[in-house]
Amino acid sequence: MPDKNMPEFAAKLIDWHGLHGRKNLPWQNTRDPYAIWISEIMLQQTQVSTVIPYYARFLQRYPDIGALAAASLDDVLAQWSGLGYYSRGRNLHKAARRIVEDHGGKFPDKADAIQGLPGVGRSTAAAIAVFAYGKRHAILDGNVKRILARYFGMDGYPGVKTNERRLWEKAEELLPDPGGAGMGNHIEVYTQALMDLGATVCTRARPKCAVCPLREGCLAFRESRVRELPMRRPGKRLPERKTSLLILIRQGKILLEKRLPAGVWASLWCFPEMPGDEDTHAYCNRCFNMEVGLLPPMDEFHHTFTHFRLKIRPLPLQVVSLSPEIAEGDAGVKWFTPDEALGAAIPAPVRKLFARIDDSRTVSRVLWHSSYSLEHAK
Ligand code: ADE
Repeated sequence: MPDKNMPEFAAKLIDWHGLHGRKNLPWQNTRDPYAIWISEIMLQQTQVSTVIPYYARFLQRYPDIGALAAASLDDVLAQWSGLGYYSRGRNLHKAARRIVEDHGGKFPDKADAIQGLPGVGRSTAAAIAVFAYGKRHAILDGNVKRILARYFGMDGYPGVKTNERRLWEKAEELLPDPGGAGMGNHIEVYTQALMDLGATVCTRARPKCAVCPLREGCLAFRESRVRELPMRRPGKRLPERKTSLLILIRQGKILLEKRLPAGVWASLWCFPEMPGDEDTHAYCNRCFNMEVGLLPPMDEFHHTFTHFRLKIRPLPLQVVSLSPEIAEGDAGVKWFTPDEALGAAIPAPVRKLFARIDDSRTVSRVLWHSSYSLEHAK
């Protein structure tokens, strides 16, 4: 039972967690900072149900910091395949190596030092410090921003620095009181309760205010502003870039190219990209020493990154002849069956395109039977 001096907000949340909170997630009931760190990184931008199988496999393959630091980046990215936002996997790997080099292999126990690790921001560092060490720190991820913006009826887009600063101040003020007899684990339960409330009750769409333990004090609820808070990002159109992706098909396999270790798709396997104004035959000849036949085009689609929208034109091509070196593949290019590709480190739009290839009768027929007449195709 929370004691009666504890601020009402924390007390209500902690009571609520006792009845409705999540208590048996795979990363709970441990104090292992490594296991908690992995879970918090996987849970950034990704739902619990998606994370659970990845988490189990990852911990089995890399049971501790030493194992992760000793693994190759390619192996780590392949484990990450399908989870998205691969920079998280790259940063985990980099951070594991740094912990081995700079901290003698021991996970740091102060929030400041944890925050210094690649891929760990203030809120994630705080969550790790709370769950692994019982330290008293505030978290402020997207879910908590939404809860607080509603509770305090705060106008303004939370992504703006000044608004975010106000939210951090509130998050700090609301923390349950430290110490006291029998109160050792309040901060862990409180933090988990905030996460659970944001994920299950105070959701972005269709929040369940009727069962919310905070509704009496919630300004947005009292003023019927729940739907409009937190405010959306002010409308700003992202710049658009265009690209063509070459789907080079030969004997049931598709050619993928490994990206250089920089940029949005760093070190991932992608379809080769062709600048918009090139002639496809000439380009394939020049870059891959290949003769190709054009297959009927597939629909264009968009993929949105944080800073731009990419318009993607998929160009399915049947390989007619090629040089022995390309046929062999090397460290930079490799022929994949669709199943092999789906198990490799491929970015979301490449995964999406594989699904479309599967849905396209013509392209999948070429892939599986090589039986499309190329007359169409010139
Ligand atoms: N989201 C971020 N961290 C989480 C955690 N520890 N449990 C559930 N959801 C989370």
